[in-house]
Amino acid sequence: MRGAVTAQAPAKVNLLLQVGPLREDGYHDLVTVFQAVSLHEEVTAAPAREWGISVESADGTDVSGVPLDSSNLALRAAQLLAERRGVDEAVHLHVRKGVPVAGGMAGGSADAAAALVACDALWQLHSGLDGLAALGAELGSDVPFGLHGRTAVGTGRGEQLVPVLTTASFAWVFVLGTAGLSTPAVFRECDRLRALDGASAQPGDGRLEAVELALRGGDAEALGRALSNDLADAACSLAPELGRTLAAGRAAGAVAGLVSGSGPTVALLADSPAGAQRLAAELAPVVGPGRLRTATGPVAGARVLEPVAS
Ligand code: C5P
Repeated sequence: MRGAVTAQAPAKVNLLLQVGPLREDGYHDLVTVFQAVSLHEEVTAAPAREWGISVESADGTDVSGVPLDSSNLALRAAQLLAERRGVDEAVHLHVRKGVPVAGGMAGGSADAAAALVACDALWQLHSGLDGLAALGAELGSDVPFGLHGRTAVGTGRGEQLVPVLTTASFAWVFVLGTAGLSTPAVFRECDRLRALDGASAQPGDGRLEAVELALRGGDAEALGRALSNDLADAACSLAPELGRTLAAGRAAGAVAGLVSGSGPTVALLADSPAGAQRLAAELAPVVGPGRLRTATGPVAGARVLEPVAS
């Protein structure tokens, strides 16, 4: 058996997030387009006498909000894999976070995805991507995408994935929120606002096709026009600073901006990696220190990081 295995998994941004009606199981039917971006969580799984988890930040941000008990999604993922595959060994997981905590970028789901891949390798289970994704779907709607990565259309709760052809790399600037937003609270607010408006979800309105076309053409301007998020109004209602951040991003020259997932991170699309650097430099004095990340997407899903030979 290997001594310890480290795996990484990416953050995601939803290029499209169409929210359908509330289902009986408490979830909403979604039509979404995920893109994996180059902010990563790293999880190291090491054999241990007892189950345990520790967390550090890769970039100096506050990680005190991450639970260190059995509610942690990475720990739940490792324990679920052990239980289903009859593994009677505990591990200690060490998480190195490069994805904003509670930011609407699926950092917790990336932890679960990386933990599944790391433990699968450590225990030499050879579960395969689909096997791990089926387990991941039990843990959270975004976990299967963290495993698959790249760009994909998600339906159902977001866990049913079909890859999307993308012919270019896109450059992003992410502006971190100043406080976390709870995903269930944002979905509830979306339902409340819709009930007030008498509005309902409008699937099949051509928005998905517009995103797919822009991705296929590798066209950042077209993608910028096609980005949309049905949770944006709800997230802005709960965290009004998001509207101001979006306006600041546009004023600073972003091709387009949108709330990432359920927020409070704002995703700004740039025309190139150099454009993203310029945008971040322009925004730094406006949004304050430590709140900007640049990234590109799509990137690969969860994978084992081979140890560097010394
Ligand atoms: O599946 P996950 O744990 O990531 O979802 C967190 C919460 O987000 C759910 O409990 C639910 O309130 C909300 N959600 C939803 N519809 C989805 C995905 C998530 O209402 N498709």
